[in-house]
Amino acid sequence: MKKLQVLLTRKLHDFALKELQRRYRVFVHQGKIPMPKKLLAQKIRNVDGLVCFPYDIIDSDIIKCAQKLKVISTYSVGFDHIDIKAAREHQIKIGYTPEVLTNATADLTVGLILDLVRRISEGDRLIRKGDWRVIFGAYDYVGNDLEGKTLGVLGMGRIGQAVSERARAFGMKIVYHNRKNLPHSLERKLHARYVSFPELIKTSDIFSIHVPYTEQTEGMINKNVLKKMKKTALLVNTARGKIINEVDLVRALKARNIAGAALDVFEMEPIGRHHALTEMQNVVLTPHIGSSTAETRKKMAAITVQNLVLGLEGKKMIYSV
Ligand code: DGY
Repeated sequence: MKKLQVLLTRKLHDFALKELQRRYRVFVHQGKIPMPKKLLAQKIRNVDGLVCFPYDIIDSDIIKCAQKLKVISTYSVGFDHIDIKAAREHQIKIGYTPEVLTNATADLTVGLILDLVRRISEGDRLIRKGDWRVIFGAYDYVGNDLEGKTLGVLGMGRIGQAVSERARAFGMKIVYHNRKNLPHSLERKLHARYVSFPELIKTSDIFSIHVPYTEQTEGMINKNVLKKMKKTALLVNTARGKIINEVDLVRALKARNIAGAALDVFEMEPIGRHHALTEMQNVVLTPHIGSSTAETRKKMAAITVQNLVLGLEGKKMIYSV
C-alpha cells in the first residue's frame, strides 16, 4: 500500500521522527526557519499530514493549497498560528499539546517573577560588567518580598491555575479574571478570588498573563490599561507577545508607570539585541522558553506524533482543537 505523506516544517526528536518514518513518507524542512511561505505552499500540496510549530503561519492561503491535507499536528499548546475556520471548512483536523507543558510554563513564570522582584538578572549583569564594587549596603540592590503581595492572573486556565498554586506557596494573595468564574470549590482550593478586569489591573502587584492570543486579546494590555496599574506593578507574560502592545509597554516602563516587566514572548520573535526592551534594567527577557524543558519537549513530541497518527487513522486525537 502506498504510504501517506507527512511534512514537518522542522526536525523533531529522533524517536518521534523514527516513528513517523516507520509509518509515512516523511519530508523534513531543513532550510530557513520559519519555512518560507512560498515553499510551504508548494510542499503542502501533496501531503496528508503536517507537523508545524507555533511560528508557522498556517493561514487560509496555505490551507487552500493543501489539497490532500487531513491533519495538522502542532507542537504547541497555542494554535493561534492556524486558521481554524479555514481548516474546518476543508475538514482538516487539528491536534495540539496542552497539559504536558502546564508545569514547565508555570515554573518559568514563577522564575521570571522571582527574577524581577529580587533583581536576579540585573545583579548578574552588574557583576559581569565588573560593577559590583561595594559590599552589602543597606539599600543595595534591594528587591521586594512576595509574601502578602497580590498576584493578578489574567486567564485562569491550566497554566494560570498552576501559577496560582505556586504563588500560594510564597504567601501571595491571588485574584483572577477570566471569561468565566471558576467553580467555587476550585476557587477555594486555589485561594483565588474572581475580580473584574478593571479591578485586576488596579489591585495586582504582579500581573501575569495566561490568556490565549485571539482577536479579543490582541493588544489587550495597552496604554489605557498600563496607566491604571500600580506604579509598583510588575508585568509578566509567558502567553503570547501580541497580547501586549509593546510600544505602549516600552513607554510605560520608561515613564515608570509600572515598575518592571518579565517577558518570554514578544510581538515579533525572535527579538534582537537592539530591541528597545533590551536597554532597560527593570526588564527580564527570555527567548520563548515556556515549555522548554527536556522532559516537557519530549512529551510534546510524543503527543504531536500520536495526534497525527490518530488523526490520519480517522481516530480521536489525544488533544484536538
Ligand atoms: C506553546 O506551546 O504554544 C508555547 O508557546 C511554546 O512554549
